[in-house]
Amino acid sequence: MIKGVIFDLDGVLVSTDKMHFYAWKKLAHKLGITNYTEEDNKRQKGVSRMESLEVVLSKGTTIYSREDKLKFAEEKNKYYVELLESLDSQAVLIDVIETLEMLKDRGVLIGIGSASKNTPLILDKTGLNKYIDEVSCGLDVTKSKPDPEVFIVAAKKLNLKNEECLVVEDSKSGIVAARACHMRSLGVGPEHEQLGADYNSLTMQSNVDWDELLS
Ligand code: BG6
Ligand code: MG
Repeated sequence: MIKGVIFDLDGVLVSTDKMHFYAWKKLAHKLGITNYTEEDNKRQKGVSRMESLEVVLSKGTTIYSREDKLKFAEEKNKYYVELLESLDSQAVLIDVIETLEMLKDRGVLIGIGSASKNTPLILDKTGLNKYIDEVSCGLDVTKSKPDPEVFIVAAKKLNLKNEECLVVEDSKSGIVAARACHMRSLGVGPEHEQLGADYNSLTMQSNVDWDELLS
């Protein structure tokens, strides 16, 4: 039986993906990279900040030092955090509040398993904080998805066994990570059919039998 649901954040609970894209695009332009596209941005889903940077740099020809790369990642984050300033509850995706309230009513614990180091800021600005029992994010882990570390930490914080947790994800790397630590998964979002999750649905309510999922 499922006792806890661990949600990815970007693209699952909140619509921040475009903001990530704009911030990376701004950095890319500054570095003279003009061919970075939304298609490239898809490959950055669920991937850590430094690995996301590699996706951008791979579109150019210059080889940069580790020091430069850290500077670029920081710069992108500065642009991203500027965009997050305007974030509020309107950024919460469709069906999310309904789902979180349903889980609370059933006594199911709610965790976050996100690569983002901005998770606390985003939960605060969107008002989602009040629904969340435990957060595991980029600040808690050293390995990023598809490594399962972020979900294992979330389960530990929730005091649950991995098998008692269900993961909700919008990225392939997240689904692979869930499987690697024996957690069942629900894939959501525009690419839900291609994620290879145990269950999939465009949104968290459109095609989901939560009784079955939680059993
Ligand atoms: C993930 C996003 O949730 O967080 C990635 O899907 C992003 O695109 C990663 O790179 C890290 O986010 P942040 O906020 O720590 O730069
Ligand atoms: Mg995501």
